[in-house]
Amino acid sequence: MSKRVLSCWRFLGVRPAGEFCALLLAVVAGPAFGQEDETIRQYQFEPAASGYRLALKEVPRPEAGAGRVLVRVRATSLNRRDLNMMNRDYDPEYNVAGGIPLSDGAGEVIAVGPGVTRFEVGDRVTGIFFERWIAGPPSADALASDRGGNAGGMLSEVVVTHENSLVRIPEHLSYEEAATLPCAALTAWVGLFKRGGLQRGQYVLLEGTGGVSAFGLIFAAAAGARPLITSSSDEKLKRAEKMGAVGIVNYRSNPDWQSLVRELTGGHGVDQVLDIGGRDTLPKALEALAYGGHIALIGGLSGYGSDLPTDSIMWINATVSGVYVGSREDFEAMNAFISEHRIRPLIDRQFDFEHAQEAFDYMQSGSFMGKIVIRIGV
Ligand SMILES: NC(=O)c1ccc[n+]([C@@H]2O[C@H](COP(=O)([O-])OP(=O)(O)OC[C@H]3O[C@@H](n4cnc5c(N)ncnc54)[C@H](OP(=O)(O)O)[C@@H]3O)[C@@H](O)[C@H]2O)c1
Repeated sequence: MSKRVLSCWRFLGVRPAGEFCALLLAVVAGPAFGQEDETIRQYQFEPAASGYRLALKEVPRPEAGAGRVLVRVRATSLNRRDLNMMNRDYDPEYNVAGGIPLSDGAGEVIAVGPGVTRFEVGDRVTGIFFERWIAGPPSADALASDRGGNAGGMLSEVVVTHENSLVRIPEHLSYEEAATLPCAALTAWVGLFKRGGLQRGQYVLLEGTGGVSAFGLIFAAAAGARPLITSSSDEKLKRAEKMGAVGIVNYRSNPDWQSLVRELTGGHGVDQVLDIGGRDTLPKALEALAYGGHIALIGGLSGYGSDLPTDSIMWINATVSGVYVGSREDFEAMNAFISEHRIRPLIDRQFDFEHAQEAFDYMQSGSFMGKIVIRIGV
């Protein structure tokens, strides 16, 4: 309905003022969301005995100032980082008390401030991970603008953000699907394509079946590469096979999984690795690496730091690169790939806004595959 109204305005060759259009949409679309409400609900991190807890707050409805956009958030997704944040696993200096959790979210533009040119009311958008990393290499300032950490997150009925910190949602994706993209998907995409220069037919190693690795599997299969994946669960591995994995290894029942991975490539080794395990997985991933292979350093699920045999990196002419999500420019390139290949993210389970804590508990349980989503206002 809202799109129809907007198309009608475009057909007439006029662009209604944001607030008026939002009001019109509210009237035409019915009582979907109280545009007139003076308050909104949002979660904030509140200090708790150990780490933080989620506190649901009623706060004044934000307004779209110059260059800024008001987004009604429809869905958010969790990343391991959000759990780490909640458990205060990071540097104690990284104080997020009072901040809005979750870097990832998608929704619709409901108002635009003066001077906004990139978006109009009704546009479907996703926030970028670093609000101020637009293009090119990162800067200290850009990396200090991480949503759900130094910058406000998405677990809120409405957020206000600069128009530069949003991208359009690929048309074939729902809000729930689009909400999984900003952190895990972009990290996998940058690791494989931008840093790794992934080629058709290459062997790609994904460790575990969490958010980053599931996207790595989906992207590698779509690109005509040959993904191999490890997991602690045979059920998850069977599912990964159906998603295009050409090789599967249970890393729990096979502590020397790297030898099996190499065997599965006929002795060639893997050309690309998304290393999410860190301390325990990185040396093994290197043993499974092909000559001239590439390892993207992404995570530390088993801890950071390792006795990495640097001489091996040299002998096999390997490339090792650090990846910290990516820029808006990278996000737009990824979205073009997602649209071209009609890619759909793997969503394990969805929770309602009122049950946000259960979503965090479910992530903590480790029994999921792919992404966990929290829907807002549905
Ligand atoms: N650098 C960046 O920009 C960036 C971006 C995103 C994430 N990260 C980091 O990357 C890591 C993964 O993040 P995520 O959000 O994808 O996590 P996640 O969704 O929580 O993934 C958890 C899954 O990883 C697997 N796993 C856990 N320990 C493992 C190990 N020792 N070896 C192999 N697999 C293991 C398990 O899969 P199974 O259940 O199948 O065994 C587990 O279910 C985290 O450390 C996160 O902080 C970094």
